[in-house]
Amino acid sequence: MVKYINSERRDREPFIVGNWKMNNTQEEAIQLASNLVRMVKSQKVRVAVTPSFTTLSAVGNIISSSRIELGAQNMNPEVSGAHTGEISSAMLIDLGVTVVIVGHSERRHLYGEGDLLIKRKVKAAFAAGLDVILCVGETLSDRKAGEAKKVVGSQLRKALCDCNPSCFGLMTVAYEPVWAIGTGLAASVMDAQEMHVEIRQIIGELVGPEIANGIVIQYGGSVNANNALSLIKNEHIDGLLVGGASLSAPSFGKIVDAAESSIFHH
Ligand code: PGA
Repeated sequence: MVKYINSERRDREPFIVGNWKMNNTQEEAIQLASNLVRMVKSQKVRVAVTPSFTTLSAVGNIISSSRIELGAQNMNPEVSGAHTGEISSAMLIDLGVTVVIVGHSERRHLYGEGDLLIKRKVKAAFAAGLDVILCVGETLSDRKAGEAKKVVGSQLRKALCDCNPSCFGLMTVAYEPVWAIGTGLAASVMDAQEMHVEIRQIIGELVGPEIANGIVIQYGGSVNANNALSLIKNEHIDGLLVGGASLSAPSFGKIVDAAESSIFHH
């Protein structure tokens, strides 16, 4: 087996994403985005926010003067047509979206998205030129049964099996254990590290070590301003996908600062 353990973290730009989920009216989103533009100053960390579809346009206008990128929480794999209630890649790109979350555990577990649909979304997003944040993660019962790596490996392989290797440069993987999301119970640094190494190994098997070593692997699940540094300074944790703590500009700003200071640990 090839070892990726020594892959150079410093070659990968830290990537911090605030996933606002189903929160914020237009006015609230504008306020939050304006505060973020003031507080997020890092030149060395890649930063994006994923507001609700209804506030993408307003937030996009505000962050366009900053380095913060506009992301979406989901998209439909079809280009257009009879898909009531759905949003296409072209609609997102039209609003300035550059990155889309695919396969978030809330999509998988609350809305029944399966591996096949997720694979189609990944392919469609790449085809449209969007960057993809592909979320994977096991449930508590998977972990208790000793199946965490098997479940995450299967989610990854099924989502990526048909992808052209040239698309992998547009991909970030977010490891988000379901039991850690919104629970206040983040994974330990060691548990996250172990899974991140596994994820890079699997991507290496799919597309070779060189591409695998360049892929940013984020951790997500109860990240906050207090635990961000200990997570991100680990050489295998390249970024963070932040839910609840991204709804406050000061706490999200501190998480970005933690990522910036982690650069000096490497
Ligand atoms: P959380 O959510 O930070 O609120 O746990 C993370 C996510 O779902 O991306």
